Amino acid sequence: MTSSMKPVAVPDFLAAKKSGKKISMLTAYDYTWAGIVDAASIDSILVGDTLGMVVQGNKTTLPVTLDEMIYHGKMVVRATKRAMVVVDLPFLSYQVSPQQAVENAGRILKETGATAVKLEGGISQEKTIAALTNADIPVMAHVGFKPQSVRTTGVMGKIQRDEELLMQDALAAERSGAFAIVLEMISRPIAAKITEALSIPTIGIGSGPECDGQVLVLNDMLGLTDQFSPRFLKHYAQLRKAATEAIEAYNAEVKSGAYPADEHSRD
Ligand code: KIV
Repeated sequence: MTSSMKPVAVPDFLAAKKSGKKISMLTAYDYTWAGIVDAASIDSILVGDTLGMVVQGNKTTLPVTLDEMIYHGKMVVRATKRAMVVVDLPFLSYQVSPQQAVENAGRILKETGATAVKLEGGISQEKTIAALTNADIPVMAHVGFKPQSVRTTGVMGKIQRDEELLMQDALAAERSGAFAIVLEMISRPIAAKITEALSIPTIGIGSGPECDGQVLVLNDMLGLTDQFSPRFLKHYAQLRKAATEAIEAYNAEVKSGAYPADEHSRD
């Protein structure tokens, strides 16, 4: 995708797929980090329900509420000039009925100013994706490993290898109107086949380089989290280590009286 300052919109995703330009996406959950991600020309910011884990400290994404997603979505949108902001619909905010999904996704768009919502599912969410797109709410689907289904699948982060099911899920998402689709932890050759078969872009996480774009959890790629290192994750920085060293230095200087020095003090 080109890095002009014009805000990234849904048609830009489809144009990127057509022209073979890769799409970059990262999560962000607050004003400070969203501003940094946006200024770095990342195409899209996902206010992911992973905030339940990396911000709130839960073991899964299930406890996150719609109001919490809206709270974080507002902060991210306030900081963003160019990137397309996509906000996750949290667990049980869309599974009850298409009407529930339209009402809740509508609240997200109206109250945060985000461009789109993301939901987990393909075939199982066909009617819901169609209802949302009919209401002019752009939908990013999410298939493969689905963190909100962890209570039924039992395992976090397992590579998905059921080719027929994954292909049918992806095709269902496209058919019902999704403008893009996250492929999470799908074996590389299957993700490549899905990417080839779809006319909407695929955004991979742990699904190989053939996807049309990539998404990572910001806290993971910056090395802020320390308990998650699957093979697909690349650490682009070691911010936990850098922050710990800075905080320890501050602590030592406060205790020794070295901080504040003369230059930090007014006469
Ligand atoms: O919630 C999230 O951050 C996500 C990404 C891992 C794709 O869904």
